[in-house]
Amino acid sequence: MPTTALSFEHYAALPEAEAHARILAARTQLGPRAVLLCHHYQRAEVYRHADLTGDSLKLARLAAQTDATFIVFCGVHFMAEVADILSRPAQTAVLPDLAAGCSMADMANLAKVERCWRELAAVLGAPDEKITPVTYINSAADLKAFCGAHGGIVCTSTNAPKIVDWALARREKVLFFPDQHLGRWTGYKKGIPLDEMAVWDPDLENGGLTPAEIEKARILLWKGYCSVHQMFQPEHIHRWRAQYPDGFVITHPECSLDVCRASDHVGSTEFIRDIITAAPQGTHWLVGTELNLVERLAQELKPQGKTVQFMSPIVCMCSTMQRIDLPHLAWTLENLVAGNVVNPIRVPAHEAEMARVALARMLEVS
Ligand code: 13P
Ligand code: SF4
Repeated sequence: MPTTALSFEHYAALPEAEAHARILAARTQLGPRAVLLCHHYQRAEVYRHADLTGDSLKLARLAAQTDATFIVFCGVHFMAEVADILSRPAQTAVLPDLAAGCSMADMANLAKVERCWRELAAVLGAPDEKITPVTYINSAADLKAFCGAHGGIVCTSTNAPKIVDWALARREKVLFFPDQHLGRWTGYKKGIPLDEMAVWDPDLENGGLTPAEIEKARILLWKGYCSVHQMFQPEHIHRWRAQYPDGFVITHPECSLDVCRASDHVGSTEFIRDIITAAPQGTHWLVGTELNLVERLAQELKPQGKTVQFMSPIVCMCSTMQRIDLPHLAWTLENLVAGNVVNPIRVPAHEAEMARVALARMLEVS
């Protein structure tokens, strides 16, 4: 029976040891009714409670497969939305702190994308015949729905190359949002010249492009970026290589093109984890992605004599991922035990339907 929801104010100052103990007790009571999905960027103390971990693609697949009634998502808002869209109606995705958003995802919104589409129509005519909209999974559900409704698709850092192939096989151009860097790196790897990948600035008329530039572009790159990954610079790599000439550099494709080009490997958080974990003992790694993942790998792999180093001299973390902490997790789980679903993520049915179309295309292609 639901009771009055337990207020968060009683949890905010919960000592760490007590929070751990209460989370474990709540999990025992919930049993298989709750599953904890956890992104690799989560803080260590939350990550240790995960049932399943992964990058965005893996977590989307896991959310679609679980039988748990409650999918407690230790990640950010768009990930919980995807879990809601791909799970069954009787299941509920829960985000322990609603302030856990993604600043990159917020760089595109439906009003701006629709205006972009109209402006492209004025230059190119019938955009639904000429341009495939591709949204990075780091985007709100209504943008995924826009893609679903316009013959488009969703991509992640893992499957972007296959998705862009799919998109370009259907229409001559791609509108890629919101991350210009993932779009540029993907196009670059396919051999698309840089001058055929134009940046669309959503705050300027016609994206700040001339009609000729729009006509010439094969990929229109939305002017969005990740504030964490933009911190990494090629100089960090050059300096490190001088110290570790036999070392390896691995980065996430949200880094700039110059950083990706200077790296030995580029891929998703799961890819980064897998590659470094499988590497020979005693190897040295410089990693361009969020600090929590890098520190976890450094600790886990130290006994094998591997060194794993964060790329930037300035500490930069994903502040929104950090919002999910032990007090919020304890509060969420104890409320579920008491029959109260706090912070459910429910995508409106009309958005969910078309967003599911774009996500289903992605899962099929990848
Ligand atoms: P992954 O899908 O590679 O985990 O990336 C998600 C993300 O937000 C990286 O900043
Ligand atoms: Fe968004 Fe960047 Fe955080 Fe990833 S690291 S969730 S892209 S803000």
